[in-house]
Amino acid sequence: MKLLKGILFSVLMGMVCLFSFSSLLQAAEGEYLTAIAGCKGCHTKEEGATPFAGGHALKTPFGVFYTPNITPDEENGIGNWTEDQFVQAVKHGIRPDGSYYFPSFPYPSYAKMTDEDAKKIFGFLKTVAPSDIANKEHEISAPFSWRWLQAFWRVLFFDDTPIDPEERGKYLTHALGHCSECHTPRNQMGGFIQDRFMAGSLKSEPAGKVPNITPHADGIGEWSRGDLISFFESGMKPNFDDVQGEMGIVISQGTSRLSLEDRAAMADYLLSLPAIATPKD
Ligand code: HEC
Ligand code: HEC
Repeated sequence: MKLLKGILFSVLMGMVCLFSFSSLLQAAEGEYLTAIAGCKGCHTKEEGATPFAGGHALKTPFGVFYTPNITPDEENGIGNWTEDQFVQAVKHGIRPDGSYYFPSFPYPSYAKMTDEDAKKIFGFLKTVAPSDIANKEHEISAPFSWRWLQAFWRVLFFDDTPIDPEERGKYLTHALGHCSECHTPRNQMGGFIQDRFMAGSLKSEPAGKVPNITPHADGIGEWSRGDLISFFESGMKPNFDDVQGEMGIVISQGTSRLSLEDRAAMADYLLSLPAIATPKD
């Protein structure tokens, strides 16, 4: 009997360990996905502020948006949210009350990620320290502040065709890295100009002038695969210039944390894009 109890105890302990190990693994994966998706940079007021507690100002032609608190605080964060509400927000741009988010939250890119990855990100966010910092109202004026108008924007510009995660480079670049949110120019209504895909923009908001990253001579035509792989790790360009500003954050908090295989997959994908000249307007 004693032996049987001993065996039973060990088996149960083994199961407990395995379970906590797999949830640890899940959280680690969630952190990796959150890093490349850049959630922290945008949902943290400034460097050194409470991570994920929001308050980061996004200046756009439509006004200033302030990112909300996405820590697990029940009152001011998303502590009361269900997994389903989270997936609806991040992948579909729909608020728990059924109204729409503004696309200053790059949900049109995240729409292309798998539900499983969105759930892993949710799992990771539940492990960060809760913060009771209250959300700040956006400073945008009518009609841009009318959430229901987003219904029309969505019909025109929201394309939630998923990307196959097996196409790793494309998946990392768009579904998680949302690189085209800055590197593809937009029309006056804030929709992507598809025939200038990744060709850069002279007046992107809030990043300002954003370079062409297609393999055209105006873009990364002179860059080798190795140049890109090391740029994603260190921010150093082939001409030894150091990367600045918004892209510096993308690298320090995102691409520098990727595995070598993932950085290589992104480099191969960018080099496979159609070469497009930089728009002159
Ligand atoms: C470029 C900035 C930016 C990035 C990157 C970003 N967000 Fe946001 N997020 C926003 C803005 C702005 C809003 C508010 C939009 C609105 O009010 O319509 C928002 C809203 C949200 C909300 C809704 C919160 C609420 O209280 O309603 C959640 C959840 C969220 N983001 C999660 C994420 C996650 C997870 C990621 C990474 C996968 C992420 N965000 C990346 C800007 C960003
Ligand atoms: C928030 C806006 C933003 C996002 C998101 C963004 N970038 Fe950038 N990117 C920039 C800006 C601005 C520069 C110019 C920085 C500089 O020259 O110092 C830049 C520069 C670059 C360069 C160097 C190009 C050159 O000719 O110097 C590459 C390559 C690049 N980005 C790739 C990417 C990839 C891949 C992603 C997605 C993982 C991405 N970017 C996401 C804004 C962004």
